[in-house]
Amino acid sequence: MLVSAKEMLNKAKAGKYAVGQFNINNLEWTKAVLLTAQENNSPVILGVSEGAGKYMGGYKTIVGMVNGLLEELNITVPVALHLDHGSYDGAMACINAGFSSVMFDGSHYAIDENIAKTTELVKICEEKGLSIEAEVGSIGGEEDGVVGKGECADPQECKSIADLGVTMLAAGIGNIHGKYPENWEGLSFETLDAIQQLTGDMPLVLHGGTGIPEDMIKKAISLGVAKINVNTECQLAFADATRKYIEAGKDLEGKGFDPRKLLAPGFEAIKATVKEKMELFGSVNKA
Ligand code: 13P
Repeated sequence: MLVSAKEMLNKAKAGKYAVGQFNINNLEWTKAVLLTAQENNSPVILGVSEGAGKYMGGYKTIVGMVNGLLEELNITVPVALHLDHGSYDGAMACINAGFSSVMFDGSHYAIDENIAKTTELVKICEEKGLSIEAEVGSIGGEEDGVVGKGECADPQECKSIADLGVTMLAAGIGNIHGKYPENWEGLSFETLDAIQQLTGDMPLVLHGGTGIPEDMIKKAISLGVAKINVNTECQLAFADATRKYIEAGKDLEGKGFDPRKLLAPGFEAIKATVKEKMELFGSVNKA
């Protein structure tokens, strides 16, 4: 059964490790993430962007797929199904479809409007026992056509949003989605430290997990990050393994064109990536 992300993230924050959010794109992705979580006895969060939601045939389709897999694959570790970077309407749609967690990304609104919309959604999620993530300071890079500047959040604004009763808070600290450019300045630990001092026990969320060096990930966790989002890295691993299979001509040998064979190397590559991240984040055996 799907669970809210609240308990797993509060435990992670107290235990100084982080739970991975791995974005899903299809059945293979979802199965790979769930099986890896089970094999490593780790809690996990499945992330779904609005674009991925459309791609997979809608939020209800995803809820049906995930619930079916949890039951039929005997997944017993805590799993949250979470909307990533949701609009207000997208969050409402996911709440109604059966997601156990939503993110409302109001970071592009003025702070007053971000507060007003986040407040409404916090109330609805509280009533239904769902977790809710809010965001202050947009994350750089491009996601589903939305390009953020990668600004650093204002710690006071973070406190204002945290005080609304959100479950977890994403704050921009110079992180960006996708690959990091050569001239990236790195995470702003000064900003992160100031945010954690003001927000106390609030689990903080680090977006753009792909390509952040291991020492920065560990330092971010030591400063209160309890959820780390990874998307592009699984996509790169999947694409790379699939390309190798095709380039080796394996799809032309025997029944190598069968999707169950063609997609197998990519599936295994996602599993390896997720396992590596769970080990780095410290969530193995924390289910
Ligand atoms: P990456 O694609 O950079 O891993 O970022 C994922 C993310 O933050 C999803 O919200």
